Amino acid sequence: MTARPWHGEGRRVYLQEVGTRDGLQGEAQFVPTPDKIALVDALTDAGLAKIEVTSFVSPKAIPQMRDAEQVLREIRRAPGVVYSALVPNVRGAERAIDARADELNLVMSASESHNLANLRMTREQSFTALAEVAALARGAGVPVNVSLSCSFGCPMEGEVPADEVMAWCERLLETMGAHGITLCDTTGMAWPGQVHALTTAFRERWPQTELTLHFHNTRGMGLANVLAALDAGADRFDASFGGIGGCPYAPGASGNVSTEEVAHALELMGYDTGVDVPRLLAAVAKLPGLIGHDVPGQILRAGRRLDLHPLPADFEAIRARAEART
Ligand code: COA
Ligand code: ZN
Repeated sequence: MTARPWHGEGRRVYLQEVGTRDGLQGEAQFVPTPDKIALVDALTDAGLAKIEVTSFVSPKAIPQMRDAEQVLREIRRAPGVVYSALVPNVRGAERAIDARADELNLVMSASESHNLANLRMTREQSFTALAEVAALARGAGVPVNVSLSCSFGCPMEGEVPADEVMAWCERLLETMGAHGITLCDTTGMAWPGQVHALTTAFRERWPQTELTLHFHNTRGMGLANVLAALDAGADRFDASFGGIGGCPYAPGASGNVSTEEVAHALELMGYDTGVDVPRLLAAVAKLPGLIGHDVPGQILRAGRRLDLHPLPADFEAIRARAEART
């Protein structure tokens, strides 16, 4: 693509917020419904291109998402922003369509073990179930994206061969008719060379298809992986504000790349993300109070690169002493 991913040259990059779903689903403390709605509205105002608002899953499995209908119905919708919802099955799709989701995000895993642990089905059974959901969505005129978990490795099985990932993409796009694919690094096993190769392979094969990369920062490689994907021509990334999150069914999982860190870095590099970082930070600042702990994202504490800090209180005395020595 460009030999210099660190020079954005105004290229548009679409940042998709998943914090209110991938982030909050793992939080023990229930975030009250009006606060969830206010968070989504703040994310809209911060300029995210797409927001995965919630998930229509079993409230017994994920109690945090038991208010999915109300949240999706009561958020403010800005023109051009896509409000999506994760659905695991037909029941979830019916609920999401009824609550006016703009897009359904279906999920299956590229790893057999993770698919069984997370969704209680074999991958083959998942594919059959997803095809049923996709047919329902097609009838309702709602586009379908499929998030393929563990596309860069499985915490229980190890390497997931790229050929196998590509074969699932082929079935999901060409047999099932998905309009987009998200390659998910569910537990931070991806590394830049691998990301570059898989992104390149996908884009060569399906240049017109909406491709999203979804990285977790579990081993500190999140932003490096974003740059590697940009270099291979990707232009869509999932991220979670504050860097919260992690799959409850994947051992050792931790938060997504943080939206504010990615937006801050890409803005410095000259990409056009559409995100207003100070506004986004104002939303992140509400999180610790709502989830009861600090967030992993660094920028809330450190500030942006040129958010300056005051000089030490005795600075003039330090200067006077230094100058007296010369
Ligand atoms: N919405 C609401 N309730 C649902 C539901 C949905 N989409 N899907 C299943 N349920 C309910 C069923 O009604 C049933 O309730 P009951 O025990 O009161 O009868 C219960 O969940 C179990 O349903 P069943 O069809 O037997 O499915 P299951 O136990 O095999 O569960 C999943 C399958 C995947 C739907 C469920 O485990 C789930 O929602 N898990 C969460 C997955 C997730 O969000 N992972 C993280 C993100 S990738
Ligand atoms: Zn994830």
